[in-house]
Amino acid sequence: MLVGCDGPLSTLSPAGPIAAEIAWLWWAMLAGAALLTLMVGVLVAMSFGRPRDIPERRWTVTLGVWFSIAVLSVVLATGLWLGERILPRDDGAVTVHAHGFQWGWRFTQPGADGQPVETLDTLYIPAGQPVDVLVTSGDVIHAFWVPRLAGKIDAIPGRENRLRLQADMPGRFDGVCAEFCGLGHAVMRFAVIAYPPDAPPEALTQLEGAPE
Ligand code: CUA
Repeated sequence: MLVGCDGPLSTLSPAGPIAAEIAWLWWAMLAGAALLTLMVGVLVAMSFGRPRDIPERRWTVTLGVWFSIAVLSVVLATGLWLGERILPRDDGAVTVHAHGFQWGWRFTQPGADGQPVETLDTLYIPAGQPVDVLVTSGDVIHAFWVPRLAGKIDAIPGRENRLRLQADMPGRFDGVCAEFCGLGHAVMRFAVIAYPPDAPPEALTQLEGAPE
């Protein structure tokens, strides 16, 4: 069953610190859900036994209320704590732009000489560094999602949302549009290429910029 957890679009196969925190939260939530399921399972199993001389209040209040609140509080606190840790901050991270449209992504990133370079459906980021993506859209609402590098964020017309992502190692990471946006939604895929910071790819060194 766990074979399904691997793959180019798996949040459980993180390739950077931010995605790793999100994967960790997923496991924490799975553990919390498993605990609650176990409790319900035990209660159901006990209901088949002979009647016990235990006040009903203990089941309802102790287990039903307090146990559930304890588990859910831990999961909620973990979520808030992690959510705060993965927020972008003003620390001079590389900033790139992602512009969604029906049906593709136009990216603008700093080229090797510092001038902005525009690319279509491929975003280039330096590996090992935090990168802030300013996400927007020109038509309808899309969502920018690179499961192995970060969480997802909506691309909304007239608005710029900021998402931080980071890749530990150079490599290619797949991204998808994660908000239904019309007939071409399923093909609105893109790639993030993380490159060694001292060896920018050819696409960022050419002077002509990228194809429209
Ligand atoms: Cu754009 Cu779905």
